[in-house]
Amino acid sequence: MEEKLNKIKQEAIELINSSKLLDEIEEIRVKVLGRKGMLTDILRSLGQLTPELKNVVGKKSNEIKKIIEDALDAKKEELTKSGFSEIASKEWIDVTLNPPVSTRERKSGYLHPISQTQYEIEDILTSMGFQILDGPEAETEYYNFEALNIPKFHPARDMQDTFWTEDNNLLRTHTSAIQIRGIEKIKPPFRIMAPGRVFRYEATDASHEHTFYQVEGMMVGKDISISHLIYVMEEVLKGIFKKDVKVRLRPGYFPFVEPGFELDFSCMICGGDGCRVCKQSGWIEFLGCGLIHPNVLRAGGIDPDEWSGFAFGMGLNRLIMMQAGINDIRHFMSGDIRFIHQF
Ligand code: PHE
Repeated sequence: MEEKLNKIKQEAIELINSSKLLDEIEEIRVKVLGRKGMLTDILRSLGQLTPELKNVVGKKSNEIKKIIEDALDAKKEELTKSGFSEIASKEWIDVTLNPPVSTRERKSGYLHPISQTQYEIEDILTSMGFQILDGPEAETEYYNFEALNIPKFHPARDMQDTFWTEDNNLLRTHTSAIQIRGIEKIKPPFRIMAPGRVFRYEATDASHEHTFYQVEGMMVGKDISISHLIYVMEEVLKGIFKKDVKVRLRPGYFPFVEPGFELDFSCMICGGDGCRVCKQSGWIEFLGCGLIHPNVLRAGGIDPDEWSGFAFGMGLNRLIMMQAGINDIRHFMSGDIRFIHQF
């Protein structure tokens, strides 16, 4: 009996020593000490022994049980500890390093100042019933010039030189090119606006850029006059500057309007007293505008005896430059993130 007990002990200790996983420890515990375990078998058979033997074997069994239990517990603790140190050695991280990109603070992107202003103007004009149109950046000569009452060889073409393609198309010089595309399709009365990127063949400097942004506007109806134009312009400026703005018209020449005007607004920086931004004049040049030339209405299939309208074209870059005190138009296209981050 004693021999048997010693064998169980030896076997159990060997198993425990050679185990490498926590699960194995539990298996051994069941195998030796469990309800049907090796040692339990012995304890169960104690009943058949003489009282003296029972005492001796019982004592011995309990001793062995204790030894095995202790060995199991010790091994369990050892494996748990080494498990942790294994994880620690395999999966350690250097907390002093920069966090990975995915967990770094993410800055959300936002719109370019040109887009911000464009969308603002779109909101103002659509609230007054203007619908938004789009057109191609590479245009035909017809839509950019001819249909706008600027025939071939007309000196007015020199006012807007641009980039030509080999097949005689061009990069549009103004959003006015969208006018005819629009009115060919839409029946009067209508109010349309057309934002977009335009191009000119310019020697660039602080106030000239070969690529810039405009918003075109047009209203056609019965008896549309300059007062409608002035009202809409005042509303647009009020929307942008959040206060009443005075405007004035000066005669200006654009072949597609008659009469044509340059529209100025009172300088928002000095309130009209004269400052550096308005070049001491108290006024800021804002846009070209006028009553649509009958030839343009005709080109769009509209009878000028029945309908009249106004049109305007404003530059977005200059407007933002004035608002934000930007001294060089080339910043807009520079791609310099430090410039963009100021908006
Ligand atoms: N297209 C003109 C320009 O780019 C502006 C303009 C638009 C003037 C509409 C009058 C009417 O200079």
